[in-house]
Amino acid sequence: MKLVSGKDMLVKARAEGYAVGAFSAHNIETVQAILAASVEERAPVMIQIGQRVIKHAGMKAMVKLIETLGEGVEAEAAIHLDHGNSFEQAVQAIQLQFQSVMYDGSHHPLEKNIEITKRVVEAAHAVGISVEGELGRIAGTEDDLTVSEEEAFLTNVEDAVRFVGETGVDYLAVAVGTAHGFYRGVPKIHFDRLDDIQLACSLPLVLHGGSGVPDHLIREAIPLGIAKINVDTELRHAFTLAAQKVWEKNPKEYHLATVHGESREAVKKKVIEKIRLFGSNGKAKGHSNLTSNKS
Ligand code: 13P
Repeated sequence: MKLVSGKDMLVKARAEGYAVGAFSAHNIETVQAILAASVEERAPVMIQIGQRVIKHAGMKAMVKLIETLGEGVEAEAAIHLDHGNSFEQAVQAIQLQFQSVMYDGSHHPLEKNIEITKRVVEAAHAVGISVEGELGRIAGTEDDLTVSEEEAFLTNVEDAVRFVGETGVDYLAVAVGTAHGFYRGVPKIHFDRLDDIQLACSLPLVLHGGSGVPDHLIREAIPLGIAKINVDTELRHAFTLAAQKVWEKNPKEYHLATVHGESREAVKKKVIEKIRLFGSNGKAKGHSNLTSNKS
């Protein structure tokens, strides 16, 4: 596996008009599925380590798992910390040599978000690691927001310009109407706001809550500066649905390799579908040295 700087990956994506899929990893099979999809599609991918799996398995265990499974595999990837919840956690990821770290200070007032994000940027950039910041509030679909509440949570353009300028982040997660989890109806993406942000800030933008967003809305968002799209729920859904199908057929199937093998295939299929939708297929830079893991 060739590990690539998050910034390099996303600057190229924005310049060439496609988005890199940032896929959440949860276990051996999800990592294998993302790597296999990257190889088959010759697509750069981000492998995200999120807060739930950090609690469940540990950050270090997940990084080592990805590095080990990536050995000798012709994938192009960046290991990414999703929704880093403190300066200390971001530093832990930096020490583990992630290629990309998100610090999510969006719940703080702007000043405090800027202050902590800036410290994360200084620490990460000192060792060549890229940083994602977040501004505005990306809700969960379970939050059930009213339209006016949703409007209030959108990323403010002036704040974004100031945040990017003062923190030095490499890419910015924006709140433009998407939410984490499956949607009850069709999500409304505020393309006008997204356009205003991309015109004011020239860095790659990140769309969270990629699961369940109709394909045509994704296609519309990418030319407006979206260079990274996070996908988690749809992968977990594919994984568990495949396992359920195995057990429906044979409730006495106790071999996890059989059950999780089906799940792995289902996740890989879903990742490939997203890679093609995002236009990142065929966009890996190509590499000859498979033994050099660190970029
Ligand atoms: P989904 O679970 O909606 O795909 O969102 C993933 C995400 O944005 C992780 O940060």
